[in-house]
Amino acid sequence: MMLEKIHGGVVMALLYYLDGEILEEEPKVSAQDRGYNFGDGVYEVIRSYRGKLFALEDHVERLFRSASYIDLKLPYSPDEMSKLITDFYNKSGNPEAAVYLQITRGAAVRNHTYERGMKPVVFMYSKPLDDKPLSYYEGGFKAITVHDGRWDMCQAKTICLLYNILAKQKAKDAGCDEAIFVRDNGEVTECGSSNLFIIKDGILKTHPADNRILSGITRKYVIEVARKNGVHFRNEIFYKEDLFTADEVFMTGTLSEISPFVEIDGKTVGNGKPGEITLKLLHSFYEMVRSV
Ligand SMILES: Cc1ncc(COP(=O)(O)O)c(C=O)c1O
Repeated sequence: MMLEKIHGGVVMALLYYLDGEILEEEPKVSAQDRGYNFGDGVYEVIRSYRGKLFALEDHVERLFRSASYIDLKLPYSPDEMSKLITDFYNKSGNPEAAVYLQITRGAAVRNHTYERGMKPVVFMYSKPLDDKPLSYYEGGFKAITVHDGRWDMCQAKTICLLYNILAKQKAKDAGCDEAIFVRDNGEVTECGSSNLFIIKDGILKTHPADNRILSGITRKYVIEVARKNGVHFRNEIFYKEDLFTADEVFMTGTLSEISPFVEIDGKTVGNGKPGEITLKLLHSFYEMVRSV
């Protein structure tokens, strides 16, 4: 088994799924898989809390949207896909887990163009997680800004992540947790693997969900939580200079939940600690996802 650990006294391990088979050992796919050769596929990462998958329907809906952007016909209906993921996850027995789901166009002798009748390859794993305490998020995170030179289909969650990988590695090498993407015109879009929000004068803003960002599931729920908490919200483009005059800045993602930034490009955000509104949203979101 790839990974084992003690979780509440029980030995937990990664469990795998490949094309109808559930396996304890890591499965192998064809070296001619188009995911391997071209990054030709889509994916999702779904978090479970207390033994239940969070926002599964949203993830499945986005998976189908992503597939249609890349002209990939999935071999299941959305309901069948949800059932497949749930059945697999339930077998893994991991109460706190990250379920990774990847569907590539299939395997064929390498050629840029593809046949529409190809058999997609469906791969999943369920990885046990340690549920992080609130204090982990409250500690604050650091980011650097990087140029956003990605393509104009960022709304599709594809496995072509090289630009994001390089950006995140640059952040890691700089001792930071995340890379914030800034376009040529100074527009801030999102992060390497998360969405970005700023708060200025009590107004919460994030980039509109267009083709320049991945419309995060966490982003959607954070906006709902903000509305419930009476926080003024705007889908609005903002610029690099706004990062340094913002009162509060945070990222959101399935695994990062709400993670406040306390430093960007070596400059302190706000007073150097997670701000009041961020903490309110963080606490509210943290409780909501765990109250299943
Ligand atoms: C580029 C990018 N933006 C945003 C997100 C956040 O999306 P979600 O909240 O659905 O995890 C991700 C997650 O992987 C991402 O890769």
